[in-house]
Amino acid sequence: MKKGTILVIVIVAIAAVSLQVNALTKRDGQVLKSAGKVEYPEAVKKVIDAKCFGCHSPEGRSDKAKEALNWTTLTGLEKAPMVSKLDKVVEVLDKGEMPPQRMIERNPDAKISAADSKILKDWAETTATDLMK
Ligand code: HEC
Repeated sequence: MKKGTILVIVIVAIAAVSLQVNALTKRDGQVLKSAGKVEYPEAVKKVIDAKCFGCHSPEGRSDKAKEALNWTTLTGLEKAPMVSKLDKVVEVLDKGEMPPQRMIERNPDAKISAADSKILKDWAETTATDLMK
């Protein structure tokens, strides 16, 4: 093989490995994947990460919480189940049911602020409405 060819192969291999490493780091971090047309805007993602993701994600410790809502898979759901989950999100935020009271008692910082709740709620409402058009 010519030296030039070998060099090209080496460069391609290095690029492939570094891309893979990059993807892995992203998967380990709390980066939310979005599928289809529904995406989490930055502001919404920030609220979810800070206030909901710990329980409602594949890494969450409570199976009940994961079954009730999983932000990582939510955007990949079919329209109807996605709308139903989004409606639930609006409902629990309206009633101030999430994060759970017992969590807030242990850690007051877990509480969601009115402003953050509105960001999340408005997004869930708009997205659900758009999906039903
Ligand atoms: C400390 C863990 C924890 C955190 C943090 C948390 N949740 Fe939950 N969530 C749960 C558990 C456990 C359930 C299921 C059992 C239940 O209904 O109490 C649940 C259920 C839900 C449900 C389904 C309710 C239903 O009636 O089907 C929604 C929607 C929800 N959570 C939204 C949120 C949102 C939005 C946030 C962030 C603002 C959040 N949760 C933060 C633990 C958590």
